[in-house]
Amino acid sequence: MTVQLRPLPSPRLEPVADDSNVIVLDTQAPSTVIWPVAGGKGGTGKSTLTANLGLGLSLLGYKVILVDGDLGGADLHLFFNQVSPPRSLSTFLTREVDELRDVLLPTPNENLRLACGGSELVGMANLSHGAKTKLIRHIRKLDADFVLIDLGAGSAYNTLDIFTLAEDGIVVCTPEPQARVDAYGFIKNTVYRKLRRLFRKNDPVTDVIGEFAREAGRRSGRVADLLLRIGEIDPVAMEEGRQMLADYRPRLLLNRVRSRRHIDEVDRFVTLVREYLSTELEYIGYVRNDDKILDACERRRPVMLTSPKSAAATDVYNVLMNGLDVSDRLHRFEAKQHRKLAQVAKAEAKFW
Ligand SMILES: Nc1ncnc2c1ncn2[C@@H]1O[C@H](COP(=O)(O)OP(=O)(O)OP(=O)(O)O)[C@@H](O)[C@H]1O
Ligand SMILES: [Mg+2]
Repeated sequence: MTVQLRPLPSPRLEPVADDSNVIVLDTQAPSTVIWPVAGGKGGTGKSTLTANLGLGLSLLGYKVILVDGDLGGADLHLFFNQVSPPRSLSTFLTREVDELRDVLLPTPNENLRLACGGSELVGMANLSHGAKTKLIRHIRKLDADFVLIDLGAGSAYNTLDIFTLAEDGIVVCTPEPQARVDAYGFIKNTVYRKLRRLFRKNDPVTDVIGEFAREAGRRSGRVADLLLRIGEIDPVAMEEGRQMLADYRPRLLLNRVRSRRHIDEVDRFVTLVREYLSTELEYIGYVRNDDKILDACERRRPVMLTSPKSAAATDVYNVLMNGLDVSDRLHRFEAKQHRKLAQVAKAEAKFW
């Protein structure tokens, strides 16, 4: 029971550079949108929202692949009743199969497939550089309308590099100040990672970045000041840095919201990121705290299936259609049609 929709325009993706100064520019499946989902802090709801956004997109008729990129604590498969996936990223990373697409597992919805993390990935959290590059290359080759990547907590280089595969990855944050601090730290780390990657062949600029990062330390130096300092030795590089940051558009998704105040606080956070990191964070909406999500977890299903009319499911639809502009691209769905989509989800649940 799916709705046929027209294809989406292709997103802007930047080339991925590895640490040894080699640019990996691999073929990107045409018109595939890649949305990495990260958050800094653990337990903010990254996996829950990846599963639900993915299922929501597939119910809207898109071909979706969910990749469990939480290499240290893979659990995305548990939302799809896969207790012990027969194939996973480790099947690919240990070269049992040549292509990432060969480990994809089907779900009852033909539009939705999974690349599971697998429980045997212990020790894979620190992927070698070669393995990471290969994984990224193969993620970019996946053929789907949307590829959503669930990432682990923290700012490991693997996580930063997969997150910055796209210019508009999603940062999931909860209302607690601790979560905001971690989300800020994560975005800051992506900014520095991107700058270092951009200037990897420019030693004087790389030195300035290193020096600034060390100095700024806990004081959180402004990236705008770093760019000015780069400009003192290399005005062209300064402009390139500015342009790169102007193109970087990470998204903020607020989860486990319990009061209006939590939503009101978003503006301050967005302003802070703009002022200190010269990065425009796009707020794409919120998902309320909802026990139905916990019930769904116990049943190993996304809440969109188990309780399609719940607050959480309604919010996920709103994020998809308003925050992420899926409706705009389609010129067909309005937020009010949540009820119609809830009916689709209810019908879908019979097949799971
Ligand atoms: N909106 C919500 N309402 C209620 N509970 C939620 C909500 N979102 C997530 N949870 C619960 O929070 C817990 C953590 O969620 P989840 O595992 O998705 O987080 P995560 O960010 O992927 O964690 P990790 O960093 O460990 O990978 C789970 O028990 C989940 O059911
Ligand atoms: Mg998780």
